[in-house]
Amino acid sequence: TVYPNQQIAAINVAKRIAKLITDKQTKNEQAILGLATGVTPIGVYAELVRMHKEEGLSFKNVVTFNLDEYYPMQPTAAQSYVTFMNENLFNHIDIDKKNIHIPDGTLSQAEVVQFCLEYEHKITSLGGLDLQILGIGRTGHIGFNEPGSAPNSGTRIVTLDDLTRSDAARDFGGKENVPVKAITMGIGTIFKAREIILMAWNEKKAAIIKKAVEGEISGDVPATYLQLSDHVEFMLDEGAASAL
Ligand code: GLP
Repeated sequence: TVYPNQQIAAINVAKRIAKLITDKQTKNEQAILGLATGVTPIGVYAELVRMHKEEGLSFKNVVTFNLDEYYPMQPTAAQSYVTFMNENLFNHIDIDKKNIHIPDGTLSQAEVVQFCLEYEHKITSLGGLDLQILGIGRTGHIGFNEPGSAPNSGTRIVTLDDLTRSDAARDFGGKENVPVKAITMGIGTIFKAREIILMAWNEKKAAIIKKAVEGEISGDVPATYLQLSDHVEFMLDEGAASAL
């Protein structure tokens, strides 16, 4: 779906999330959401916060799983995805803190393996993700599934692509400070979500969106695997859709 601009697109993504939450509320069920970080979803979170404050949208029945986190990373660091999520969403809504899950960047290498298995298990034991929202990196990564990721990959520790680290350099005051690794949900984890929405705004995403939507399906551009799914929707602004 192509929207005239990113504000309208973000509002529509937020509406989809809010509808899922309220539909689940009427059934007395929890909504299990997969969340993303980066600049792209900021407008979506801002709209959800507005809906909470002005329209009484409650997040009491919401359980969240974030896609990824840098490794190593302290949750209190300015660049952590914990800080990002708190500042952009969690601090402003009525979600129960015990329902928030973000990969833990403080663990030892040995502990991470077990943590990743448990992260997958927690998602499955709650009945799976109802909705996963995604941005896209310039390498074609979703979450931090960089080129070379397997379509059936699970939550794991990965090495970041050079381009991804360059794109993150500004947040870290130089590329040399960007962690080399990250923990990410796998392509397989994402695929199991009952609904997937990939968002992209601006012309700088047009080339990678063209590859993701129209390119040959290949591990070289992990987002092309989404072509194999019948429950994925790309929600774009005109800039991001301009090369299609
Ligand atoms: C980061 C995140 C991804 C995100 C991507 C794009 O690397 N791990 O989940 O989709 O960057 O970020 P942005 O939305 O800032 O362009």
